[in-house]
Amino acid sequence: MNTDLIRKYNIPSPRYTSYPTVPHWNTSEFNREEHLKRLKASYAKDKEEGLSLYIHLPYCESLCTYCGCNKRITVNHSVEIPYINAVLKEWRMYVDLLGEKPRLAEVHLGGGTPTFFSAANLGMMMDGILELAETTEKSEFSFEAHPHNTTEEHLRELRKRGFTRISLGIQDFDPVVQQTINRRQTFAQVRKVTEDARRLGYKSVNYDLIYGLPKQTLHGLTDTFEKVSVLQPDRIAFYSYAHVPWKSPSQRGYDENDLPKELEKIALYDAGREKLLASGYVEVGMDHFAKPDDGLAIASQKGTIHRNFMGYTTNHNNTLIGLGVSSIGDAWSSLAQNPIAVEAYLERVEAGEIPLVKGHLHTERDLVIRRAILDLMCGFHCELDMLKDRKERETVIARLSEHLADDLLTVTEDGIEVKPQGRAFIRTIAMALDDFVWNGTSAEQMFSRSV
Ligand SMILES: C[S@@+](CC[C@H](N)C(=O)[O-])C[C@H]1O[C@@H](n2cnc3c(N)ncnc32)[C@H](O)[C@@H]1O
Ligand code: SF4
Repeated sequence: MNTDLIRKYNIPSPRYTSYPTVPHWNTSEFNREEHLKRLKASYAKDKEEGLSLYIHLPYCESLCTYCGCNKRITVNHSVEIPYINAVLKEWRMYVDLLGEKPRLAEVHLGGGTPTFFSAANLGMMMDGILELAETTEKSEFSFEAHPHNTTEEHLRELRKRGFTRISLGIQDFDPVVQQTINRRQTFAQVRKVTEDARRLGYKSVNYDLIYGLPKQTLHGLTDTFEKVSVLQPDRIAFYSYAHVPWKSPSQRGYDENDLPKELEKIALYDAGREKLLASGYVEVGMDHFAKPDDGLAIASQKGTIHRNFMGYTTNHNNTLIGLGVSSIGDAWSSLAQNPIAVEAYLERVEAGEIPLVKGHLHTERDLVIRRAILDLMCGFHCELDMLKDRKERETVIARLSEHLADDLLTVTEDGIEVKPQGRAFIRTIAMALDDFVWNGTSAEQMFSRSV
C-alpha cells in the first residue's frame, strides 16, 4: 500500500451503510406514517425474497471503553424480560402493518451484547418472532456474541431456531490492549465458542478485529493474527478503530497518546491485511475478508454483494425492519430510527406506538445518489446517468480532482470506475457524490477518519 496516499486521504468520512448518513437526515420533513407506507410498499416488492430483520439488544455487563456502539451497561438481568416483551410487541405492530406474516430473508441480533440475555430468554424471544413470520431454507439467521459470556446453551438454543452464523467480537488478543480498553476474553474462550459453534452445525463463524486501538503494537497484532489463523474463521471484519470521543465519551478513559499515530496505524492495517491475504482470505468490499469458498466472497467476485445497516450481505432485498432501541428501518426510499435511550423506547412501545422518532424521506435525486454510492461500496464502480449532464460531470470531476490526479479512478459520461489502487479510498470517493457533505456541515466532528 502507498503510505503517502493513505495519509493524504485519511480524512473524516462516512462509512455509508446508507445514504444519506444519519447526521444528514432531513428530520424536519420526516413523516412516520409516510415511512411506514413506503415500508409496506417496499415489502410488497420484496415479498418473494423476504425482508431483513435487525434486533438491537443493548445490554452489556461491563463497558469496553473503546466501544462506539449503542449499549447500556448493567449487571441487573431483570431488564431482560421487559425488554424482550417490548421487542415482541413492536414486532406485532409491524406484522399488523404488513397485514400478513412476513417472510424473513435474514435476521440479525446485534448490540450491545445479545449473549447478555440468557439462552432461554433469547429462545423465547425468537419463538415470539418466528410465530408471526415465514421462513424458507434460504433464510439466514446470525447473531453477535461476546466470547466471554457465550455459552454452549446460547449456541444450542439459537441453533434450534435456525441460526447458522455467529459473529464474535475479539478486537485484539493482546492482554495489554484488552486491559487498556477494559475488555477481557481469552484465546481459550474464543476457541471453545468457535469449536462448539461448528460442532452444533453453525456454517459460518465471523471474527471482528480492530486496528488502531490504544497500546496496540505490530508485535501484538501479529500474535493476534497467529491465533486467528489457528482457528480459521470463515469471515473476518478488520475495522479501523473509530475515535469519536464526542459521541463515545468512554474513549476518554485512556490517554490519546496511547493511540497509534497515523503511520503506525497504517502499518497495523497493512500488516493485518497482508497476513489475511497470505492466509488465503479474499477482500470483500471495505474492511471485510472471507475464505474464497464463502458465499460472500463468491458473490463479491461476481459483483453481486449488497450492503445494508447490518453490513455486507448476499441478500438483495430493500426492506429492513429494525426492532429495539436505536434500530434503523429502511424502505429504500426512506429511513427511520427508534429512540436511542432504552426508557424512551420502552415508553413508546408501551403506549402502542411503532417507536420511530426520526428519519429521512428520500427525494428522487437522493435515490439516484444512494444507488451509485451503494454500487461503489459493493463493487467499486457505478453507473450514473447524471454524469451525462456536463455541469454535473464537471462538479463530480472537480470533487475528485485529487483522486484523478493520483490515478485512482476514471470518470466517464456513464459512471465511475475505481481502479484497484483506489479501492482503499472508497469512503472518500463515495463522498464526492454526497450532496449533503458538500452543501452542508463539516464532516470533522461527525465521522471518524477512513484509516
Ligand atoms: C456490538 S459489538 C460486538 C458484540 C459484543 N458486544 C462484543 O463486544 O463482543 C460490535 C462490533 O463493533 C466494533 N466496534 C465497536 N466500537 C468500535 C470502534 N470504536 N471502532 C471500530 N469498531 C468498533 C467491534 O469490532 C465490535 O465487535
Ligand atoms: S464492545 Fe461489545 S461488550 Fe463491549 S461495550 Fe461494546 S457492545 Fe458492549
